[in-house]
Amino acid sequence: MTMAKSKTSFFCGECGANASKWTGQCPECRAWNTMKEFVEPTGGGGGGARPSPALPGARPEPLARIKASGEKRLQIGIEEFDRVLGGGLTTGSAVLIGGDPGIGKSTLLMEALSRLSEQEPVLYISGEESAEQLKMRADRMEVSGEKLLVLTENRLETALTAIADCGARIAVIDSIQTMAAADVTSAAGSVTQVRESAARLIALAKSSGVSVILVGHVTKDGQIAGPRILEHMVDTVLYFEGDRSHAYRILRAVKNRFGPANEIGVFEMTDKGLRQVENPSELFLSERAEGAAGSVVFPGMEGTRPLLTEIQALVAPSVLPQPRRTALGLDAGRLAMLNAVLEKRLGLGLFDQDIFLNVAGGLKVNEPAADLAVVLALAASRHNVAVDPGLAVFGEVGLSGEIRGVGQAGARLKEAAKLGFNRCILPAKCRKNVPKGLGIESIYVGSVVEAVARLSGKPSQ
Ligand code: TYD
Ligand code: MG
Repeated sequence: MTMAKSKTSFFCGECGANASKWTGQCPECRAWNTMKEFVEPTGGGGGGARPSPALPGARPEPLARIKASGEKRLQIGIEEFDRVLGGGLTTGSAVLIGGDPGIGKSTLLMEALSRLSEQEPVLYISGEESAEQLKMRADRMEVSGEKLLVLTENRLETALTAIADCGARIAVIDSIQTMAAADVTSAAGSVTQVRESAARLIALAKSSGVSVILVGHVTKDGQIAGPRILEHMVDTVLYFEGDRSHAYRILRAVKNRFGPANEIGVFEMTDKGLRQVENPSELFLSERAEGAAGSVVFPGMEGTRPLLTEIQALVAPSVLPQPRRTALGLDAGRLAMLNAVLEKRLGLGLFDQDIFLNVAGGLKVNEPAADLAVVLALAASRHNVAVDPGLAVFGEVGLSGEIRGVGQAGARLKEAAKLGFNRCILPAKCRKNVPKGLGIESIYVGSVVEAVARLSGKPSQ
């Protein structure tokens, strides 16, 4: 008997990046000490460059002749969750839900399964908590769980058998990092185990039509493989995000074979489990100090959904040789660029000032459309002018201080109008895309100079 050759490679436990050599820092995500050795069996008889003999039986078919059975979806009954999935849970699909430990993944899934159990048999497999702990959570959430089957198990084979035998149409594995296959020698949570366990669960989903939801903890220490290494294997990747010091949580689709990516659902953690937030803009603006100097409201887009957020800036004289530049919830590189534009085009004199930027509520904003709101928040704080509480602002800022058009101007304005805003500063380029009669005054600007002039209500010359 010849030994199967094996190949050694290295994986980042955080992001799943692959490398042939070990490095202290991951070449992709730049995390330290996350590279793990991974021995991949190349299979028996792998003769290197020798071509393998052709196998009979595979006959390609014209795409037009393939019959699509039409995907079947199950409505969970939690609207925010269903929308993020693209209109419900597709049968036979594999969904990954990632998130920091303690963010509320188990709570969300317990709620979802309890709703689903009303229409379909469901199974919750936990490798992290005892049956009593699950029961305690259910009691706290006031979930009866009459038809919700639970199994506490971390042996993969037993879990697979249970899924296949119990007749469930939906199975949750909480978490994939606690599952271990007996024939894989590495420890539970290692890259090899996590990938192998996930592969077998996904194969079962595809062959049996059971929808499988895998929970993956985002890990920082690199000892345990993070959910990112599974992203390419599953149909749908959702992340459950939030700041543990705030009550709200965002469920975000980052990949979806059955619906739009970037869709979000907003929840609030209460003492009785998670509550859907139907009007998230209201929530994120609820603590706003109206008329504050450095606070500007930005109508952003999260997927197909408008979301109003408050951007706060504080500009104060610095005592440091190198003044501070801090951006929370916004990209620091973007701040540096906007800073330079303000210096050059408006002569704002920020070089000896500390700058702090913050998106209220701990939200993250990645859109360039937020540029103009950031610029006006900085200018307002620098000049100490109160911002009109009825004003909303959006637009991308270019290097020469020009305001560039952004998508979905109509939806942004509509959301702002709905929440009682009566003026909006926006790019002149958006003029032709804005429907009439939204009940909000549109102030079109072409440059940052013009925008700053309009901030205090003065018309530009
Ligand atoms: P959990 O769902 O266990 O998080 P994860 O599975 O992502 O690790 O939720 C953990 C936190 O949520 C915990 O700190 C307690 C809090 N929580 C509430 O505030 N209210 C509730 O009703 C429940 C069930 C949990
Ligand atoms: Mg959990």
